[in-house]
Amino acid sequence: MPYRRSTLSKFIIEEQRKLSGGSELIALVNDIQTACKYIAVAVAKGPLAGTRGSTGNINVQGEEQKPLDMISNDIMLKCCEWGGYLAGMASEEMDEPYAIPDIYPRGRYLLVFDPLDGSSNLDVNVTVGTIFSVLRAPEGVTDPQVADFLQPGTAQVCAGYALYGPTAMIVLTLGTGVHGFTLDPDIGAYILTHPNLSIAPDTHEFAVNASNQRFWEPPVKRYVEECVAGKSGDREKDFNMRWIASMVAEVHRILMRGGLFMYPKDTKDPKRPGRLRLLYEANPMAMLIEQAGGAASTGRGRILEVKPEALHQRVPVILGSRNEVARLERYHAEYDRGEDQPFSSPLFNERSLYRNATA
Ligand code: AHG
Ligand code: MN
Ligand code: MN
Repeated sequence: MPYRRSTLSKFIIEEQRKLSGGSELIALVNDIQTACKYIAVAVAKGPLAGTRGSTGNINVQGEEQKPLDMISNDIMLKCCEWGGYLAGMASEEMDEPYAIPDIYPRGRYLLVFDPLDGSSNLDVNVTVGTIFSVLRAPEGVTDPQVADFLQPGTAQVCAGYALYGPTAMIVLTLGTGVHGFTLDPDIGAYILTHPNLSIAPDTHEFAVNASNQRFWEPPVKRYVEECVAGKSGDREKDFNMRWIASMVAEVHRILMRGGLFMYPKDTKDPKRPGRLRLLYEANPMAMLIEQAGGAASTGRGRILEVKPEALHQRVPVILGSRNEVARLERYHAEYDRGEDQPFSSPLFNERSLYRNATA
C-alpha cells in the first residue's frame, strides 16, 4: 500500500531527528519540494504553456535563457524566500546573490541552485531537472555577499536534484546516504522509492560529449580511446556510451546502474577550465555521488575540496563508479609526471606506450 511508504516530508523529519538537527532544514527541504512540484507542472505543460524558444536574454554564463529557465528560477526564489531559514540564495540565472526581501526574517542557511539543468533539451522533450545545494551562512551573516557563498563542497549540509522525466523524482542526501523519491501525482507527494542508493565500483558505461575530443587533454583521450577499443584494446572489455546533455539525467542513470560521466577540462575556450559550474552543478552532484559510494574528481583532485573563487566558476567534472574515476586520476597523474608523452591523434595513432600497461 503506497501510504505505508514514507513521504519525503516524513523522511526528512525522521532523518533530522536521528541527526538531532534543527527544524529549519526540514522546512527548507519542504519548500524546495514545493518549488520542484511547481516546476514539474510548468515543464510538463511544454508548448501548451507557450514557453518554448528563447527569452532573447543571455545569462552571466553567456548562455541563452529559455523562458522555463526564468520561470523555474522565480519559482525557486518565491517558494524558498519567505520561511525565515535562508540568509540568501544564488542561482545559475542570476549574476549576483539574491537578497531575501526585508519583509521576511533571515535564517542560517544559503541555497544555491541550477533552476533548470539541461534546458537545451526542453524543445526536444528530453528529461531536465533542478539541482540544489544547501550551505550554512557564515556565523553572524544576515546579508550574504558573494564571498559568503564561496565554500567548498565539503561544507554542504544537503544536496540533491529534482528530475522532470517520465516520472518526476527528487534524489537527495543530508550526508547520510542518498535516497530517491517519486512524485505520486494522485496525492501530490514525493514517496520514498529508492532508499540507500549505491553505485557499483566498476562499470562498462561512460558518458562524454565526444564532439569535444580534439580539445581534450591526453589523459582523457587515452581513457576514451581505451573504452572505444573495447575487447580488442587494453581494457579487454566492451564499453557502452551515452550522452543526454542533461547532467541530472546522466547522474540519475549512474545512481541507478553505475557508469562514468565526465565533462573534462578542454581547450575549447581557454578562459573556461570546464563546462559545468562548481557551486550549483558539480558540488551537489559530487556530494550525492560520494554519498552513494562513487567518486567525483576534477581529474587532479576531489571536486568537493576545490576552493571556490567565483560564484559561477566552472570546473572539470569526472564522476561515477569509483574505480573508473581512480583510473582517470591515475592517467592525469601519469601525464602530469611526463610519463604519458607524447600523445596525439588517439583514434588513428599506433601507440606502443600502453600496450603492456596494467589496469
Ligand atoms: P544548463 O542547461 O543548466 O546550462 O546545463 C547544461 C549542462 C549539463 O546539463 C550538460 O551535461 C551539459 O551542459 C551539456 O553540454 P553540451 O551541450 O556541451 O554537451
Ligand atoms: Mn545546468
Ligand atoms: Mn540551468
